[in-house]
Amino acid sequence: PIPTLQARDGALWLEGLALADLAARFGTPTYVYSKAALEAAFASWREALAGRRALVCYAVKANSNLGILSVFARLGAGFDIVSGGELARVLAAGGEAGKVVFSGVGKTRAEMRQALQAGIRCFNVESAAELERLDAVAGELSTRAPVALRVNPDVDPKTHPYISTGLKGNKFGVAFADALSLYRRAAALPNLRVTGVACHIGSQLLDPAPMAEAARKVRGLVERLAADGIALGHVDLGGGLGIRYRDEAPPTVADYLAPLLEAFEGCPQELCFEPGRSLVGNAGLLLTRIEYLKPGETKNFAIVDAAMNDLARPALYDAWHEVVAVAPRATAAQRYEIVGPICESGDFLAHDRSLAVAEGDLLALLSAGAYGMTMSSNYNTRPRAAEVIVDGSSAHLVRARETVAELYAGEKALD
Ligand code: LLP
Repeated sequence: PIPTLQARDGALWLEGLALADLAARFGTPTYVYSKAALEAAFASWREALAGRRALVCYAVKANSNLGILSVFARLGAGFDIVSGGELARVLAAGGEAGKVVFSGVGKTRAEMRQALQAGIRCFNVESAAELERLDAVAGELSTRAPVALRVNPDVDPKTHPYISTGLKGNKFGVAFADALSLYRRAAALPNLRVTGVACHIGSQLLDPAPMAEAARKVRGLVERLAADGIALGHVDLGGGLGIRYRDEAPPTVADYLAPLLEAFEGCPQELCFEPGRSLVGNAGLLLTRIEYLKPGETKNFAIVDAAMNDLARPALYDAWHEVVAVAPRATAAQRYEIVGPICESGDFLAHDRSLAVAEGDLLALLSAGAYGMTMSSNYNTRPRAAEVIVDGSSAHLVRARETVAELYAGEKALD
């Protein structure tokens, strides 16, 4: 699934570097990303949008490393953030505040102030209460806040229930039926400037139809608002395009976008998108070393030095990540449970994988560029992994491995 990963002389290379050399240099576990794969993913969005006034706002939550953000900033991307922390990262990485959209149901007053002072492009407002709060905060700063309402188009994205966000029963967005009255309220508030509309129905979407249906509903709303004297400058259609982890067949970016572009054909609004996974998911892998092979009565275990704290997706969503030996042995393959050292049975990275490996060998968990490092934790006082971006035959350490001392630097024993 990673376009720049190849086997050469029986070992795996990412762009111009052998994974074994990266492990020797940076240790394990380490997240390794391919700059060329990041750039290619961004280019496929840009090309599919050529000729349309559009902005691709990378969803920072998928991978917020400054190195990754700087690659996208240089390519001219905007950013979709969900916290003041993510805004600080975007600015530290050279991103432009004027291309930042701020999503999320729980924006604090401090986050609103921070974003207004930075001069972000738009707040995607998710409730009536947030609208009132934003108006008040903007008034205190004697400014006007640019707003879009995130509407909930109530379509079923047919994805994992934890990552489906556009159905009536969940906490995101405002009900379609309430949108018109909320827009009227927003237009009447003195410190708001109504600039757009936003929606996002879910993640890892493999079927373009639900998003196409959502886009048609949003187009209808844009027209109703225009008839009401509320002219919007942009339409934000969120993120969600899925990737291939195993045997999924996600639409290409162009196929995913075609019905969305069609739904807004002839509309003057700028189109925005908030892709996360499709930009970074298949640009990264998690490199880990086998500490022990442990034969069992019913299962064999490969105990590796990465764990659920490094890559939570398998434990959390039962997600499937491909596991490959970095230099497979000539011996017969055996089936293994790939597990970490954490003291929980839920600490697995993969079930029942066929591998020809020995103790000390390296494994790569593929498609780990999105929601890998950003969802990691320090459970079991495990320092988080290093992160490296490969660019041709150079490797850039973009996050040093944490030290144990850093983990409890803010703590204190009682006297
Ligand atoms: N915009 C909004 C408002 C979102 O909530 C999300 C993701 C995105 C954009 C980016 O969606 P993407 O293009 O990456 O699908 N941790 C889960 C995924 C959670 C997605 C949450 N929202 C996972 O590991 O699969």
